[in-house]
Amino acid sequence: MIDLVTKTLFQTLSGSQVLKQLASRFVMRPPRSFARRFIAGETVEEAIAAARAIEAAGLMQTLDMLVEGVSTMAEADVATRRYLTLMDQIVASGIGRNLSIKLTQLGLTVDRATCVDNLRRILDGGGTRGFFIRVHMEDSPFTQVTLDIFETMWQQGYRNAGIVLQSYLPRSMADARRMNELGARVRLVKGAYKQPRKVAYTNRATVDAAFIEIMQLLLTEGNYPAIATHDEAIVAATRAFAAKRGIAADRYEFQFLHGIRRDLQTDLSANGYRVRVYVPFGGEWFPYFMRRLGERPANVRFVVRTLLRDH
Ligand code: FDA
Repeated sequence: MIDLVTKTLFQTLSGSQVLKQLASRFVMRPPRSFARRFIAGETVEEAIAAARAIEAAGLMQTLDMLVEGVSTMAEADVATRRYLTLMDQIVASGIGRNLSIKLTQLGLTVDRATCVDNLRRILDGGGTRGFFIRVHMEDSPFTQVTLDIFETMWQQGYRNAGIVLQSYLPRSMADARRMNELGARVRLVKGAYKQPRKVAYTNRATVDAAFIEIMQLLLTEGNYPAIATHDEAIVAATRAFAAKRGIAADRYEFQFLHGIRRDLQTDLSANGYRVRVYVPFGGEWFPYFMRRLGERPANVRFVVRTLLRDH
């Protein structure tokens, strides 16, 4: 219950412009750089430097340029062009070619056809250069349309894309079966958005149990799934299930958010598992940062202590 209240509060605050400005002044800039634990920086150069450090430590990465609230076709076009430029910069830098994107960044709330066109531009731009593009799963009003657009692209022959499913949605088991039928790559997460009770499980144990069931389905019948969680018990359950079924460690990967459970990331990697770190960056980092704070009360206490200490 407290979890839900904290999550709700922080999702609401994530829209506050005043807080955003305060955070930019006090939380992002060194030395008070708490946000930098979660966000690689505001520029592409900072993101590439973070990605290089991750790869140097033997892990893989995926970059996510944080753009929120695209509300016109022109803004969606700008975001798409920024992705195309980002791909050029990634190629020039020599780091791994893996991006995570949100369809709302490409105009999903403005015009569906434009969004599909923009996604196609990105998949075309990436496909010839070996990019893998992961389509993020957003709030539940977007679930069906996101899956529909993803499947349309898949049917048109785009194979350099993958999707995300959230275990807090009861529908995700059926969606995982469908993605397995297609042969599409799924990233499994618990789900980060505040959801109404009638749409999503709100009980933590139920979300975790659903995660484990879907993980097992993806591992046995899916195509190179990504198990994206910091939950040590679920990571252990994944390892145990894979070992019991003889599923080799190169047939799936673990994924983590930048700055969370680095100890577990390096431990898994040292034990021969494939680990990818999701590296968010960009000027629009505030809503993402607030979602991460809301997931863990200890983060909020840490920020408050840091601010009090430094002022
Ligand atoms: P849980 O929240 O139960 O946390 C387990 C443990 O992890 C905690 O006890 C703590 O130790 C640590 N932890 C978790 N969050 C932390 C935090 N913020 N700060 C510090 N420690 C923390 N969601 C979504 O809806 N759509 C998406 O497309 C994605 N994409 C995505 C990609 C990747 C690579 C990851 C890892 C996650 C996502 N998510 C996501 C977010 C996901 O839905 C979920 O909100 C977070 O991963 C937190 O849930 P956990 O599975 O870690 O479990």
